[in-house]
Order: sequence, then C-alpha cells, then structure tokens
Amino acid sequence: MMSLNVFAQKIPVNYDESKMPSFTLPDPLVLPNGKPIKSKDVWEKAGRPAVLKLFAENVYGVNPFSGAVKIASEVKTVNENALNGKAISKQITLRFPEISPTLTLDILLYLPKNVKQAPVFVSLNFTGNHTATHEKDVFVTEKWVNSGFDKTFVNNRATDASRGIAERRWPMEAIVARGYAVATAYYGDLEADHNEGWKTGLRSVLTPEQREKWSAIGVWAWSMSRMVDYLIKNESLIDGQKVIALGHSRIGKATLWAAAEDPRFAMVISNDSGEGGAALSRRWIGETVEHLNTQFPHWFCANYKKYNKAVAELPVDSHELLGLMAPRPLYVASATEDIWADPKGEFLGAVEAEKVYQLYKKTGLGTNTMPMPNSPVGKTIGYHIREGKHDILLYDWQQYMNFADKHFEIK
Ligand code: GCU
Repeated sequence: MMSLNVFAQKIPVNYDESKMPSFTLPDPLVLPNGKPIKSKDVWEKAGRPAVLKLFAENVYGVNPFSGAVKIASEVKTVNENALNGKAISKQITLRFPEISPTLTLDILLYLPKNVKQAPVFVSLNFTGNHTATHEKDVFVTEKWVNSGFDKTFVNNRATDASRGIAERRWPMEAIVARGYAVATAYYGDLEADHNEGWKTGLRSVLTPEQREKWSAIGVWAWSMSRMVDYLIKNESLIDGQKVIALGHSRIGKATLWAAAEDPRFAMVISNDSGEGGAALSRRWIGETVEHLNTQFPHWFCANYKKYNKAVAELPVDSHELLGLMAPRPLYVASATEDIWADPKGEFLGAVEAEKVYQLYKKTGLGTNTMPMPNSPVGKTIGYHIREGKHDILLYDWQQYMNFADKHFEIK
C-alpha cells in the first residue's frame, strides 16, 4: 500500500537475517515480581492482566471508556435477496449518544439464508462498505478516505465509481455459501487514518492527555467491539458464541488488539498484520517500530515512540500479544512477497505464543518449522504463508473458514 522504496530511503531497512542483531524475548510466563507462571489460574489472575496493561500503556494505548457504552442503532436497509438471493443484507448505523451526537459507525451485514445461528466474521474495511461489494443498495461512505488508496477517490471522498473496488478482499458469496455471516464497517468511521484524523473522530471528545494515551488503532479496535455489542444483542440469526475477529494489515494490528481486550471474540485472525501486529518487533527485518511511528504517528500511543531506537527496552513483544488470545483459536497468515511485514517474524510470534496455550493444555502451532507456501499448519494456532502479495484473498478466507469449521465443529 505504501511505497516501500520511498520510505526505505529515510530509515534503514534490513532484509538480511545475517545482519540482524540477536535478541532476547520477554517471557510471558514470568510475573512482574519475577515469579514464574505455572498454571492458567495464575496466568488469568495476574499474568494476563499485567501483559495486557503493558500493551495498553506502551503500544496500543489506554481505552478511556470503561464499562458498557450506550448504543443507539438504526437499521437503514434490509435486503432479503442479497448476493443473488443467497443472503440477507442489512445496513445498520450505530450512534453513541452519551459520547458524541455526530459520530456514526455504519455496519454492512451479510447473513447466510437458511442458517439458524451463523458464526460471524467481524472485520473492518479500508475503503468503505460500498467498496466491498458491487451491490447497488450499499451506501457510499461519506467519510474521509485516503485518496492514495484508489484512483476513484477524489479529494479524499469516495465516489460511485469506487463501488466494488475491494471485492477481491471480500468474497461474500463464498463466505455465506459456507454458512458464515460477515459484518464489516469502514475503519475510518470513528477515526480517519491520518495524523489529524482524531479531530473529527472519537478521540476529539477526550482530554489531550487521554487522547495521547490512546491511539487510532485503539479506536479502530473499539469500533470492532461496538459491532459485537450490536450483533449479539440485536441479530438473532447470529451465534454470539462464534464471533470471529479478522483483519488485514493495519486493521490486522487493530484486530489483534480488539481481541486482546475483548474476550467475546471467540476466534482471532491476523492477515499480514506485520510490525505492530503478529511480527516480532525485536527482529530487525522489514518494518520497524521507528518506521511505524515515523510514517503513522497516530497509530500507536505516545509512549510507543520511546522505543523507536530502543526496541530491546519494549517490555513486550508480539508473541505476548498473540498469547493474550489463549485459549481461543488464533490464526496468523503471511504472504511470500510481503517481506515488509516480515513473514518469518509473524510465524515466530505464533511459535512463541504456544507457551501460553500450553497452560491450557492446548497445542498451538505444534511446529517451529515454517511451512511451504500455501500449506497451512497448526492446531489451536493456525498459520499459512500464501504465495503472492500483501493482500487478503479468497485463498486466505478459505483457510480461515476451514479453521473455524474445525474449531466450531461445523460439519
Ligand atoms: C504500510 C505499513 C504497514 C501496514 C500496511 C497496511 O505498509 O507500513 O505497517 O500494515 O501499510 O496497512 O497495508
């Protein structure tokens, strides 16, 4: 998405494993007082909350909204004959009257027909709901969009011509055909993805201190949890025990954080989330913490910048983020040409998360050998590296549905 070369000129980029300094990963199974964690009870009571707090304070930011959030929902359209008659589609607008009179989060929901209670993928999109499908009744987003993302965007606004431009990432018919629902919303609804995006978004209602302590990724993760609030309360055709958090790239980072904070996500999928997501930050390969903070200063909390040139001092690393998903099924995916995201670092993050899964007597990946392209591996943690570019394609979705079928025991 971003030009790798332009960026690479500014901060050194390394792709050579032999040039990478060695490092030691923090041990997720040691408490802040130095005592080892040997049981899931100690992990849940003390270890997990400590790791979660470290991520909030140093990486993704502290969510200032505690407790339940009041949501007003309005179902704007229902189409009983969506996707060539295979699905019901709905568009729902969520508002947050106790927070702001203007903020809206627009959900596009596809429900498979003839499934009493469907598992649902909750997943934000990069370019507006109307870009995930050609279906004409889907509203074109009126929010700020990144003109650099597509030539159909004019002056940071989407146009009718951008309908369906991201369809390859949203194989809706194939998904509903397998009995899964999809709920998507534009990631920029509650914070536009630029340095001043907070001014018109959710963080505009905060004090400067709260705002700095939180982050755009924190806001995007928050939106995913609000989607879950709505879905489990209002949509009887959805199985609230089978809500899957899924996200690609920067949204993959937000997805991992959403699922770390919100246990209602019963399964978690990181697609090419890279640095600041599933990839180990301590590996000096591809994107680094400094790259992230330089190009996208709004993504993470202010404290994260302290580690620009001191990654060894970061008190956590990605394997611990992935460990926060335990014992829930977790899938991490990479792509062969996505070297900026450090596929091996994503794989090793998943390998190292296994320790936490073992507290629950679960096998994570069950291997530390990186598989060949297009050859999924793993047990409670799944992994594949797809041949090709940084993207999320039908192949990826198929693996996620196979994984979900297995763990949700769907025949
Ligand atoms: C950039 C960024 C990555 C991010 C990606 C994306 O390449 O450096 O961290 O994951 O954009 O969101 O597509």
